Amino acid sequence: MVGTNSGDDAAVWQLDTDRALVLTVDFITPVVDDAYTWGQIATANAVSDIYAMGATPILSLNLVSWNDEELPSSLLVEVLKGGSDKASEGNWLVVGGHSIQDREPKYGMCVIGEVHPGRILSNSALRPGDHLILTKPLGVGVLTTAIKNKRLDDEFEKNVISSMSQLNNTARDVALKFGATGATDITGFGLLGHLKKMLDPVHLDAKIQVGQVRLLQGSYELAKQGVSPSGSRRNLDWVKPILIPDEQDDVDLILLADAQTSGGLLFGVEEKYLDEALSELTTHGVTASAIGKVSRGSGKIYLSKGHISSDITE
Ligand code: CO
Ligand code: CO
Repeated sequence: MVGTNSGDDAAVWQLDTDRALVLTVDFITPVVDDAYTWGQIATANAVSDIYAMGATPILSLNLVSWNDEELPSSLLVEVLKGGSDKASEGNWLVVGGHSIQDREPKYGMCVIGEVHPGRILSNSALRPGDHLILTKPLGVGVLTTAIKNKRLDDEFEKNVISSMSQLNNTARDVALKFGATGATDITGFGLLGHLKKMLDPVHLDAKIQVGQVRLLQGSYELAKQGVSPSGSRRNLDWVKPILIPDEQDDVDLILLADAQTSGGLLFGVEEKYLDEALSELTTHGVTASAIGKVSRGSGKIYLSKGHISSDITE
């Protein structure tokens, strides 16, 4: 049902009238110092593409690159424990895996999920008039770069870790409950990059209310000081031909293009469901906001006048 053509978040294979298999794989290098926490984040990141398709994870396999010469195996045990605890939280089973020797460690999972063939969320199914809901604040790329450079406050670090570790299962539930058809998860291409990928195939434009886009605490100041992963700059260059800013400066733009690890879902709901969907997300502890609207067009992203708002915490 979904393969390599649509650039979607995962592949979907129909089994019968009521069931389809969903397949995805993802692995990352360490984004934090703590092994257990890295395992949790890598797992939340790997399963995210399952939720982005509207699916439910069933089984997964670990993928591990490990440097036996420099890292004790007790650390690997912690990474895997982080992964299996996160899988328990999401109510799926880790049933095996594979590891190789590698200088730089990497961890992730191949995840299999299930979805009703009629309830698939796709990144090419936004509808004209849909309001866009984003379910996690941006700024992960800036903050994890600061962690690598050892220049992040403990409190900010705690916030970004909790954001990256959060499963997108509640966001998926709300998207499905309120009739969303178009959804994706915000990861390496950033908000602007993933939005471009959603608009292109369906000939829609988006207008982003820049002041409604939330940031993780600390990310604005750091971005202003030039702390940003190189991927965010590439994202921004890539979307520039279709981006129509209105008074935004480079800090605003680089944050809107900030490459996320384990970011939130971005999905479209009809206007009549917008308030209810937002309040349900908030009730369940999801930091969601309505960030704009799509309409017929040609794949352009318009930004409303003004700057990205001050930082918020989860
Ligand atoms: Co994805
Ligand atoms: Co992915």
